[in-house]
Amino acid sequence: MQISANAQAIAYLVSAVLFILSLKGLTHPSTARRGNFYGMIGMAVAIIATLLGSEVKSYGFIIAGVVAGGLIGTTLAMRIRMTAMPQLVAALHSFVGLAAVLVAIGTFLNKRDAGLLNAVLMGELSAGAIIGAITCTGSVIAFGKLQGLISGKPVKFPMQHQLNMLIAVVTVALGVHFAMTGSVVSLALMTVLALALGVTLIIPIGGADMPVIISMLNSYSGWAAAATGFTLHNNLLIIVGALVGFSGAILSYIMCRAMNRSIINVVFGGFGSDSAAAPSAGAAAMEKGVKSASVEDAVYWMEDANRVIVVPGYGMAVAQAQHSLKELMELLEARGVEVKFGVHPVAGRMPGHMNVLLAEADIPYDHVLEMDEINPDFASTDVTLVVGANDVVNPAAKEDPSSPIYGMPILEAGRSKQVYFLKRSMNPGYSGVDNLLFYQDNTSLVFGDAKDTIEGMVAALKGGGH
Ligand code: TAP
Repeated sequence: MQISANAQAIAYLVSAVLFILSLKGLTHPSTARRGNFYGMIGMAVAIIATLLGSEVKSYGFIIAGVVAGGLIGTTLAMRIRMTAMPQLVAALHSFVGLAAVLVAIGTFLNKRDAGLLNAVLMGELSAGAIIGAITCTGSVIAFGKLQGLISGKPVKFPMQHQLNMLIAVVTVALGVHFAMTGSVVSLALMTVLALALGVTLIIPIGGADMPVIISMLNSYSGWAAAATGFTLHNNLLIIVGALVGFSGAILSYIMCRAMNRSIINVVFGGFGSDSAAAPSAGAAAMEKGVKSASVEDAVYWMEDANRVIVVPGYGMAVAQAQHSLKELMELLEARGVEVKFGVHPVAGRMPGHMNVLLAEADIPYDHVLEMDEINPDFASTDVTLVVGANDVVNPAAKEDPSSPIYGMPILEAGRSKQVYFLKRSMNPGYSGVDNLLFYQDNTSLVFGDAKDTIEGMVAALKGGGH
């Protein structure tokens, strides 16, 4: 069975609309499931409409590919742990990049033999192959770093920026030569150099900057797909490529802004990458007036509070404390305490990190507020419980112009009556910056693994509190 070009165009339009609705749904945790569903239906419509199009001559290879790919994808998706999601995404981007390179080469060989090459098509082929190749190896390196197969530390080499610039210029020159002459040698050299550029661009970037890089590579994979769409005259691929390209770029921008970093700085791997900046010596910090508190102290204040705000951070993810937090929330609510969660846009190590973990623990969405929504509430809050967060509540971002995080918007935890930090030591967070909030009069630190501490709080509350 085949469908007409018109029917296919209408089906593509329906999928494009579904993809846009999907992105809209994904903007909030409460609508994310629906967004995902729209995306899945959109993709199903797109695949069926493509398979029924007149350009498909035989189904053998396609079915074999779909079955093999579907099996691998399903197995991976079922096995993958939530914390390994960034590397899975990186691995998938590398396939998009590879597909763009293969389509460009395949299309060139086919059309050359049929005598159908023209200047516009050659330009598209060059662009598709170069962007695809950079995305492919760049994503493989990002995957390796996040999976711990390659050192997460920035790998610097002499004249790094000059070398990258040289490779980029030669690659583009070969791309132009290939587009003008159809030289197979230029195509091969250009592809090999673009593959090398993916490696040399990403390898100097530190592991902690990888989330921004992955979102950038996501954007590149979108542009590679759009270039492929032009090559194959497939409007849906062009639309989807542009959606992915722009949403990846916007997400990178939002992340950088929330971290007060320039995107150029992240992409060229200059800062923050050696994030294990010298931890401030515990004893010296204590001398500066840090108060340590016991689990019982914190419970005493929380159970008599009207409102408690929990600020989760990277340490909650490390400790996997979200389920105990849910229990703590329920016990406090049973005592008439209002409990809310304040989530900073870059808390944790990937976009939406905290939201995913809180949702996994079934913490209701209406309890989870974003920074702008919750900031006005801190001043009228009795206790803020900072669970493994650090940078996202550091007042240095507002008060110390010399601080590397100066200008980053923060959760204003310090304005509540009492602040309890749950962390293991005096070590700083990702930025390596000492936290001024530790030394504020209303702050106490409860030292220990966040999960153990919260379990202690739960036990104390179950035991009847004070
Ligand atoms: P951080 O500032 O990195 O602080 C995390 C804190 O958790 C540390 O101070 C650590 O202190 C504590 N911790 C670690 N393991 C713990 C455990 N088992 N139990 C209790 N505490 C534990 O985290 P944040 O406040 O979430 O800020 C995120 C940072 O990452 C920001 O600087 C942000 O710019 C950066 N970043 C974010 C992203 C995205 S997209 N979210 C991407 C890249 C970078 P101890 O070692 O003393 O326990």
